[in-house]
Amino acid sequence: MSVRVNEEEFSAEVDPRLTLADFLRGECGLTGTHLACEHGVCGACTVMVDEVAVRACLMFAVQADCCSVLTIEGLAPGPDRLHPVQQAFMECHGLQCGFCTPGFVMSVHAFLRDNPDPTDEEIREGLAGNLCRCTGYQGILRAVRMAARGSSPSH
Ligand code: FES
Ligand code: FES
Repeated sequence: MSVRVNEEEFSAEVDPRLTLADFLRGECGLTGTHLACEHGVCGACTVMVDEVAVRACLMFAVQADCCSVLTIEGLAPGPDRLHPVQQAFMECHGLQCGFCTPGFVMSVHAFLRDNPDPTDEEIREGLAGNLCRCTGYQGILRAVRMAARGSSPSH
């Protein structure tokens, strides 16, 4: 299979049952895509495939053949700059241990692209598929509001 990941081409012969998450982590060395539940519940493994947010633990790597994948490593505009969603998570204390954060950030990125001015209820609904054990979600909610408004965090 061949796949473009964060603007870089990867080609490999893979087991048909290898998941996209394991491919990204093992073959591409992109360990920012985290694995927790491995059955589609927690959202930690969220990446974009051809502009659609997917759970990489539920997709076989071969299903991404000829696709373009964006992972958390490819989101920031440069090595010294954070993506606005990452910046908002940092400023609003939207993370503690950080394990869930790559999945949240990718989900928020996709969510705000489709709904750039969401209500709090829409944010809660939009992120219902991502689980965090640490933050209590309030910092995450503030981060999404901030990223949406491109402004200072509201408390
Ligand atoms: S590891 Fe994929 S949804 Fe939990
Ligand atoms: S910050 Fe620890 S699981 Fe979310």
